[in-house]
Amino acid sequence: MAFESKIRPITWENGKSKMLDQTVIPYEYKYVEITSGDEMFNAIRNMIVRGAPAIGIGGAQGIVLYAQEGANKFSNVADFKSWLLEKADYMATSRPTAVNLMWACDEQKKVINNSVSDIQGLIKELTDKAIDIELDDINRCKAMGDYGAEVVPKGARILTHCNAGALATGGYGTALGVVRSAFAKDNTVQVFADETRPRQQGARLTTFELAMDGIPVTLITDGMCSYFMKKGMIDMVVVGADRIAANGDTANKIGTYTVAIAAKYHNIPFYVAAPLSTIDISIATGDEIPIEERAREEVTHINGKIICSDKVNVINPGFDVTPHDLIAGIITEKGILRPDYNKSIAEVFNRS
Ligand code: MRU
Repeated sequence: MAFESKIRPITWENGKSKMLDQTVIPYEYKYVEITSGDEMFNAIRNMIVRGAPAIGIGGAQGIVLYAQEGANKFSNVADFKSWLLEKADYMATSRPTAVNLMWACDEQKKVINNSVSDIQGLIKELTDKAIDIELDDINRCKAMGDYGAEVVPKGARILTHCNAGALATGGYGTALGVVRSAFAKDNTVQVFADETRPRQQGARLTTFELAMDGIPVTLITDGMCSYFMKKGMIDMVVVGADRIAANGDTANKIGTYTVAIAAKYHNIPFYVAAPLSTIDISIATGDEIPIEERAREEVTHINGKIICSDKVNVINPGFDVTPHDLIAGIITEKGILRPDYNKSIAEVFNRS
């Protein structure tokens, strides 16, 4: 059962990408138009659009934008295609950790390689694929939500980290998709949202979208999670994912690993919710997942104001990897995968 969100963070309109600027929420709620491939590359890199599935949609749209630009430069389809394949590879490097971006760029590369159309025909095929990836994501998240809702106890207090909601996807959410579907069945469930330093996606985005949809949410700072777990105030944890290895090791926003350890210690089930496009079966373990290093200012500043000595050393990894043995289940659009993940992940890919 779906509890729709009003948010559509990224859509395709009149030959352009229309995206919600997530860098200004909650102060402003404004859409920006992205009209070129390079603008899309920067919008992804600078997190105007963010969240693994949403940047996948952005990448797919960015390749359409490059194709529209290239149409004026080439008359020969073969030259156009090889130029566009290079642009697709470039788009896939706009952020390194979330594999949905590489997956969506690969989907567009398949369209380019398989097309027998002329240049305008190929642009239409790429546009259709980008729209399909966006709409398909919403359906996958709803399916995930319904599977996930089955393991949410009545009246559950669900802890989440970062934002894995409508804002991070086509418009329903992975972890928050589970919350939405659970809330549709039982409106006594509630969310505890970690603030998620340094970019504060939990405070700025998760509380924003849940409050907008009338789902009860309590904001806590990152260090508080074990305090509330010990007090018996958290029944389960559900987070999203940026990349899952073949053995179930899961990269998600920095701080997720700490939450998983605390959950294990307190016997609280820790779930990951992610579409199959987040699972990278080409890598055996989480050690192979590239971790994005972000700017020092994200740590040294809050709202443009420095909060420490300007001489301090800073290291700012954007993600960490939660080992598979801390994960009770991986909620996908094909059902909930359980340990042994090497087996359950291989099986679901063989069926798909
Ligand atoms: O750096 P971000 O904001 O793009 O990181 C987002 C996350 O880590 C999300 O939890 C993850 O992408 C899952 S989104 C459905």
